[in-house]
Amino acid sequence: MSVAMCPGSFDPIHLGHLDVIRQAHELFGSVVVVTMYNPTKPSGLFGLDERQAMVTESLAAEQGLGNVRVETFPGLAVDAARAVGADVIVKGVRNVTDFDVEMQMALTNHSVTGVRTVFVPCRPDLSFVSSRFIREIAQYGGAVHHLVPAPVSRRLAALPPR
Ligand code: PNS
Repeated sequence: MSVAMCPGSFDPIHLGHLDVIRQAHELFGSVVVVTMYNPTKPSGLFGLDERQAMVTESLAAEQGLGNVRVETFPGLAVDAARAVGADVIVKGVRNVTDFDVEMQMALTNHSVTGVRTVFVPCRPDLSFVSSRFIREIAQYGGAVHHLVPAPVSRRLAALPPR
């Protein structure tokens, strides 16, 4: 049986991510969620440690996902997969824009180490959810509690108002 890695910047983790992790867990049984840097998104909100803390707390609170491992990795996804012992990467795809980006990453990663990427479709009712807009709305005091797990909602609510 394969070990699946769900990598992401998780800045912050949201309900769409949790759905993808749950799908990976159903498909592969053994899942490692790895919080990473996205070099194309340097101006994030939370640091790596806080993002990982939110991932850990959110997964612990989820029914049936408490045994999913959580790691951080500062480098390449292919090296993270090797480091955590994963032989497949699982990515959620929300729309064709995601698909274009993810397809290129999957093929590039495969060409580098041979690691395979499996795409899972995001739940339709969550397919509009993005960390970027959650960050933007929360920083201006808007309501995003319905889009994120409780540990994230608490931290977003504690942000200083803009
Ligand atoms: O949640 P995100 O921001 O969509 O996650 C993207 C992430 C972190 C998985 C991606 O940026 C990544 O793989 N970063 C590590 C750097 C890397 O491996 N780059 C080569 C990509 S082909």
